Amino acid sequence: MQVLLIGGAGYIGAHTALAFLDLPGTRVGIFDNFSTGSPDNIPEGCEAFEGDILNEKSLHEVLSMGWDTVVHLAAFKAAGESMESPEKYSINNINGSINILTGCSKHCIRNFILSSSAAVYGEPQYLPIDENHPTMPENYYGYTKLSIEGHLKWYDMLKGIRYASLRYFNAAGYDVQGRMRGLERNPANLIPVVMEAAAGKRSELSVFGDDYPTPDGTGVRDYIHVTDLADAHVKAAQYLAKEDKSLTVNLGSESGLSVLEILNKAREVSRKEIPARIAPRRNGDPAKLIASSGYAKQVLGWQAAFSDLDTIIASTWNVYKDL
Ligand code: UD1
Repeated sequence: MQVLLIGGAGYIGAHTALAFLDLPGTRVGIFDNFSTGSPDNIPEGCEAFEGDILNEKSLHEVLSMGWDTVVHLAAFKAAGESMESPEKYSINNINGSINILTGCSKHCIRNFILSSSAAVYGEPQYLPIDENHPTMPENYYGYTKLSIEGHLKWYDMLKGIRYASLRYFNAAGYDVQGRMRGLERNPANLIPVVMEAAAGKRSELSVFGDDYPTPDGTGVRDYIHVTDLADAHVKAAQYLAKEDKSLTVNLGSESGLSVLEILNKAREVSRKEIPARIAPRRNGDPAKLIASSGYAKQVLGWQAAFSDLDTIIASTWNVYKDL
């Protein structure tokens, strides 16, 4: 297999590169503009290319190098920001994806894996959320992912590109072998924020709401270890190489953790106090999100293996403790 990871120098991409490198005989390339990812994240054994998905010349040059599978992880992902600067998201996420798709069809790359998101569903109408749940994104970021999924359906029909759209729930954790140590810049997600507070880089954690209809009143999410996500990309690539069919699957652990459960485990593992304060709810945050991952198990034979609370927090603290 010859796999090009576009946006592969970020947190999920670099873990995914490790998983493909573990697969004997696989050629792995990373194409990244390093706007949020970093060259330091690129594992040994990968071919690295600097370029931007909005610069068709550099993109096409790299796409012409004999890949059979493209994994597209080059998107902006801050839901709040997407509501204030939608153009940033339409240009990079939607136009950028169309450039990649056009390049794939020109250079006869038939297999396409998209880093999609649970944000395509919006406010849950029932739990756990399966792939048949209505898609009504509540933020523009989620809409850009849904829109890319729509383009993929057309390119499948018109150009024979087969795709796997992987709808991630909350990505978390770090490689348990300690091979990936790159931190996200200016994180807004819960676990990196908790870790920065534990490491003394931030004064406290704001807990966004403690009056949700959940057991302890704080928001519940389905955290999925990034190594489990990475493994799903490999299984999706193998599926596309074998079957002549596209698919859309949820990737979650099928269990929920509250903000306070995360905070308390982080206090225990780091042995730091981690100051926290109850703050108002954040706009657009649902009380509870939990995935149904039965379909991923059925079609890909995939199951989460590292997504328990201890492994997620311990593997993350292992990186943040040196901050
Ligand atoms: C967010 C995005 C989602 C995106 C995902 C990936 C929103 C509404 N959702 O998911 O679209 O796909 O990131 O990056 O922005 N929390 C705190 N204090 C904090 C940060 C978070 O209490 O400082 C709480 C939140 O209210 C939530 C939980 O922690 O209940 C998880 O939040 P977060 O890590 O930001 O993920 P999501 O909001 O689920």
